[in-house]
Amino acid sequence: MKQDMIVILDLGSHENTVVARAIRALGVYSEIHPHDITAEGLKALPNVKGIIINGGPNNVIDGVAIDVLPEIYETGIPVMAAGHDKALCEVKLAKFGNDEEFIKNAVRSFVFDTCKAEANWNMKNFVADQIELIRQQVGDKKVLLALSGGVDSSVLAALLLKAIGDKLYCVHVNHGLMRKGESENVIEVFRNQLSANLIYVDATDRFLGLLEGVADPEQKRKIIGGEFIRVFEEEARKLDGIDFLGQGTIYPDIAESGTKTAKVVKSHHNVGGLPEDLQFELVEPLKQLFKDEVRACGVELGLPYEMVYRQPFPGPGLGVRCLGAITRDRLHSLREADAILREEFAKEGLDKKVWQYFTVVPDFKSVGVRDNARSYDWPVIIRAVNTIDAMTASIEQIEWPVLLRITDRILAEVPNVNRVCYDLSPKPSATIEWE
Ligand code: XMP
Repeated sequence: MKQDMIVILDLGSHENTVVARAIRALGVYSEIHPHDITAEGLKALPNVKGIIINGGPNNVIDGVAIDVLPEIYETGIPVMAAGHDKALCEVKLAKFGNDEEFIKNAVRSFVFDTCKAEANWNMKNFVADQIELIRQQVGDKKVLLALSGGVDSSVLAALLLKAIGDKLYCVHVNHGLMRKGESENVIEVFRNQLSANLIYVDATDRFLGLLEGVADPEQKRKIIGGEFIRVFEEEARKLDGIDFLGQGTIYPDIAESGTKTAKVVKSHHNVGGLPEDLQFELVEPLKQLFKDEVRACGVELGLPYEMVYRQPFPGPGLGVRCLGAITRDRLHSLREADAILREEFAKEGLDKKVWQYFTVVPDFKSVGVRDNARSYDWPVIIRAVNTIDAMTASIEQIEWPVLLRITDRILAEVPNVNRVCYDLSPKPSATIEWE
């Protein structure tokens, strides 16, 4: 193993992620683990040079006070405690707070002088270590992966491919709600360029059939999510002798599902929604990474820039942007308009500046005029927003000439559209998506 590691034990402090990031900013790899990890569990982790316990002894979950196991102090690994008054701790500190600079200064001497950790955390070493760990975990068994083409699953696929090559089986399900060229791009990069085993399933008719006449947004999401699992399950059953499932879990996913209750955070649970008899062990090499680190990992693995830095795209895809009951003609107009928007944004460099940008086609028509005749067609709504955490968002103030050029192209090139609008609403009161 190339990297030294500092382990942060999670006693439910909100600052854990800031502490992890501060240590990584010092050049030392750090991972956050549940508070009740055993001494054996700790020793099984590679190159642990030090332990940081962050959080007071008064942490209470479901009425029960939680603390680390006493055996942790017998491992011989240096321990630092913040906001924790165990007498055995080598260093006792006031609670850290949320300031990365403060934390860096507070832990520097512990990390380098006490633990003698080397500042050898970088993506090259991370990738090398993960490849070794994946090979140890998987052996010569096979791994299945749902490859959507999103950042996390793409980076995971590239990493697994480096580690286990043709023992990896990727399944790309096209639910018919992908953006223009998206599935083709997944096939081009992974099958043609990286020679991955890629099973491509065009399930457009299945999804659009089930969605026919369904107007309620939550119902649409349920149908899309549920059918996705079913299609994936069918493909999994066709493949024989698969023991592992690759999952592109990243640290914020774990944090959002609640790190405080370490009992909810289990690394070896099955993927949500797959039936009981389809049991896989999970391979989740990205689960300690933050989003920017996942992207850096993708760059290190040689994935195309556009794939690694692409904007977020919701799981239900264009399904929640073709408002109300989806029809194929409106979906086609939406896809074409979205492609024009993305093309024009890229020309202006806005793709690197704006957090999320897309088009929406509502399920009502308006009157227009074309070729001296009355038209009755769909509008296209453009939305472009900036945000830090997607909880609140402000709109991008796009230059008029750019908006007008996009409008001209949409009106000239997209069928059944006679009007283009720009959405000026921040979140709140609006959400980023329209459904
Ligand atoms: P809202 O519309 O809630 O969106 O302001 C916040 C962020 O979440 C994305 N989003 C979704 N992502 N499945 C997803 O995977 C969904 O059902 C979904 N709905 C919204 C949205 O694109 C934005 O980035």
